Amino acid sequence: MDPVPSATIRTVHGDARELPGVAPGSVELIVTSPPYPMIPQWDETFHRWGATDYPSMHGRLGEVWAACFRALVPGGILAVNVGDALRSGPDGFRLWPNHVDVTRSCETVGFRSLPYVLWKKPTNKPNAFLGSGFLPPNAYVTLDCEFVLLFRRGGLRRLPPKDPRRERSRYTKAERDRWFSQVWDDVPGIRQSGKGRRTGAFPPEIPRRLIRMFSLVGDTVLDPFAGTGTTLWVAHALGRTSVGIDNDPELSEALAREAARLNGDRIPV
Ligand SMILES: C[S@@+](CC[C@H](N)C(=O)[O-])C[C@H]1O[C@@H](n2cnc3c(N)ncnc32)[C@H](O)[C@@H]1O
Repeated sequence: MDPVPSATIRTVHGDARELPGVAPGSVELIVTSPPYPMIPQWDETFHRWGATDYPSMHGRLGEVWAACFRALVPGGILAVNVGDALRSGPDGFRLWPNHVDVTRSCETVGFRSLPYVLWKKPTNKPNAFLGSGFLPPNAYVTLDCEFVLLFRRGGLRRLPPKDPRRERSRYTKAERDRWFSQVWDDVPGIRQSGKGRRTGAFPPEIPRRLIRMFSLVGDTVLDPFAGTGTTLWVAHALGRTSVGIDNDPELSEALAREAARLNGDRIPV
């Protein structure tokens, strides 16, 4: 699909808790993946936020979900890709159920929970079994799913009758049957290399489905943890205006350059 002329990309170097440059009620869809609490890759990020334990990590993320709530139009959707973590804590090895705490925080700031997606990455490798041998009872079930949690600001989004953008944004029956089922087992993860190693980038198919499912051509899509910009580039290709925020200076510069290139701006030298 050709991008519509107004489908520009805006990137901002800043803090997701403040959503700089994003006006209240100006976004129809948010697609994002935050730093995951209790995953060692993100310890330093949370430490910089002053969060060193699990509740305070979710406390910081909760400030982002509150800002997201304000940024959305009534009926707008927040989609959060997050995984649980397995790690030793003060009371020993255990699960840290990030999907539960993100859900709790989102409900606390006013979101309505909607049915979510379990993203089960297909793999050729045998399960990374956590235990030894074949003797019960002390082994662990393998964490091989991530979540795509879905929330709405209030009731259904209201649109003008016969809004032509709805027809232009239509999905096929095959797409609907696949995308609206609760388990996505046909989306491989991507190799985390280069910038991706630092950002935990998700594959473009994840935002592509969510943007087609929950927004219209011409809508505005926000990613408050933009990383390598996967959400932004997919949104642009699908004719949606997009806004991305990241607080990493290096990533932000790369985002601004790619956005300028896609917007057709003169790239600053
Ligand atoms: C899981 S990654 C997002 C990856 C992204 N979905 C992609 O495909 O590249 C989380 C991102 O959040 C950014 N980040 C961490 N703390 C932040 C904050 N307070 N404000 C904005 N961005 C933040 C990190 O720099 C990182 O790029």
